[in-house]
Amino acid sequence: MDIVKFRDSVYQIRSTEGVRTIIPPTLVGELKGLPEETLSAKTAVSEAMLSEYTQLSADAHSDILTLLLRTKATHNLQRIVSALKEEFQFILATEFPACEDWTPFRIQPFMVRAVSRLSGRAFVGSSLSRSEEWMGVSVNFAITAFIAVTKLQFFPPWMRPVAQYFVSELRTIRKDLAKAQAMLEPLIEERLSYTDTPGSDKPDDFIQWFSDALPDEEKRDYFIQAKMQLLLSASSIHTTSNLTTDCIYDLAVHQEMQDVLREEATEVFAGEDAWERKDSIAKLKKMDSFIKESQRLSGNITSFIRKVMKPIDLSDGTHLASGTSLLTALAGISFDERYFPDPEVFDGLRFWKLRQQQQSPTPTRSSSPTPLTRSHSSVTETPATPSRPAIISSSSSPASSQSPTYLNPSKYHFTSIGDTNQNFGLGKHACPGRFFAAQEIKLILSYLLLNYDIKLRDGEARPNPVVFMMTKSPSQTAEVLFRRRKAA
Ligand code: HEM
Repeated sequence: MDIVKFRDSVYQIRSTEGVRTIIPPTLVGELKGLPEETLSAKTAVSEAMLSEYTQLSADAHSDILTLLLRTKATHNLQRIVSALKEEFQFILATEFPACEDWTPFRIQPFMVRAVSRLSGRAFVGSSLSRSEEWMGVSVNFAITAFIAVTKLQFFPPWMRPVAQYFVSELRTIRKDLAKAQAMLEPLIEERLSYTDTPGSDKPDDFIQWFSDALPDEEKRDYFIQAKMQLLLSASSIHTTSNLTTDCIYDLAVHQEMQDVLREEATEVFAGEDAWERKDSIAKLKKMDSFIKESQRLSGNITSFIRKVMKPIDLSDGTHLASGTSLLTALAGISFDERYFPDPEVFDGLRFWKLRQQQQSPTPTRSSSPTPLTRSHSSVTETPATPSRPAIISSSSSPASSQSPTYLNPSKYHFTSIGDTNQNFGLGKHACPGRFFAAQEIKLILSYLLLNYDIKLRDGEARPNPVVFMMTKSPSQTAEVLFRRRKAA
C-alpha cells in the first residue's frame, strides 16, 4: 500500500477482525467529540474484545472507573509516589540481580512484575499486591483474554455461542474472577467497617474509592469489585510495562541519554525529602520527552477504535454508515515527517526542545493538524509547515482544561493527546490512566538510572519488537546488561 498516497484519505483495510475504516489525523478532529450514541468506543472495544465471552468490559461501571482514575488516582499521585518508591526498592531487593559487575538480565518479565506490584499497591494495597496469587490473576487476565479472543476469532460469529466451550481460556477467566473475588471479599468487608466507624482513617486505594462510589445495593457485590480490579490490571499492567521496557531498550542503545537523564534525576532527587515532594516527578522534563519519544517510535500500530452507531458525514465527502468500524493508523502518524521532522531518528530530547521553544509561543496554530496538500472547511487557521510540526494537544490534561492550543503549556508532555498524538487515544475515552502511568514509568527509570548503568552486549542492536496481528510489544526475551553504580 502506498502510505504517502493514502495518509490523508479515509481508506479501508481487511484485518483478521474484519473490515476496518482508517481515519486520517486530518479528519479525526471531526469525530473525537461525537457522543457515544453516534460514535461508540464502548461498543467497539466490547466487540474487539468479544466481551460477551471474555468479560472484558466494565459495562455500566465504566464511567465510575474512568472518573475514579481521572480524579482519585490522579490527585493521589503524590502519596502514591513515595509509597511506590518503597515498593520498587523492595522489588529490586527481591527480584533483581545484584549487578556488582555487568549482569545480563531479561528486563521485560521483570517490568511486568514490577509494574503489577506498583500498580497493585495503589489499586488494592500492599497486603494483596505482594501476594503471588493476586499477581498471577492480575497479570494473566489480559493475556488469557487475548488468547481467548484470538481463538474465538477463528470461528465465524454464528458459531461462537457453541465454539466458546472449546476455548479453555474462557474457563480460566471465570476461575480467575472467582479467585480475585475470594481474595477481595475480606478486604471489602474490612473497608465497609471503616466507612461505618466515625473518624476512621480510610485506606486510600481503588478498593476503597470504588466501594465508596458504588450504590448501597452493590457495595457487597464482590464480583463487580473483582471484575473492575482485573479490568484495571488488564488496562494498566502490560501497557505500562511495555513502554517502560522500550525505554530501557532505548536507554541501552542511546548511552548519551543516560547521562542527560541521570543528571536531571540527580538534581531533582537531591535532598532527603525529594521523593516525597509534590513537584519532584513533574520536574523531570527531559525524561518526559525521552519517554514520549520512545513511545512515538515503539508505540502501538493503531488507535481510536470506534464503532459508528448513527451515520456520519465527514467534510471530505466520506459517508460513514452505521455499523462501520473505525481505527486510526497510529504508527503511520508517528512516522509522518510533516508532524515529526526526521521521524526515523530517535531524538530523546525532541519534545523537550519543543517545550523550550514554546516558552515564546506564536498564536498561529490550528486546533487540527492541517495537511500541506489539502484544505477542508472545518480548518480555518494557519497550516503547519513541515519545519514546525503540528503536534496538537487536546485539552484533557487536568491542569490544562480549556487553554487554547497555542497557549497550552502541556502540549508536548508525555500525557498530552491530540490528533497527531494518539498514543493514549482521543476525546472522552482517551486513557484516564496516563498520568498514573507517567508517574510509574518516571519513578522506575529515575531509580534505575540513579543506581545502575545500562547497556546492550557489544555489537548488539536494539531488540526487535514482537508484532502480532495489530498489536506490537517489546521483545520478551532480550537481555540488557546492568551494573550497579558505585555510591558517589
Ligand atoms: C503507557 C501506558 C498506557 C497506554 C499506552 C495506554 C493507552 C490507552 C489507549 C490507547 C486507550 C484507548 C483510548 C481511546 O480509545 O481513545 C486507553 C484506555 C484506557 N486506559 Fe490506558 N494506557 C496506558 C496506561 C493505563 C493505566 C496505567 C491505566 C489505569 C491506571 C489505564 C486505564 C485505561 C482505561 C480504564 C481506559 C478506558 C477508557 C475509556 O474507555 O473511557 N491505562 N489506554
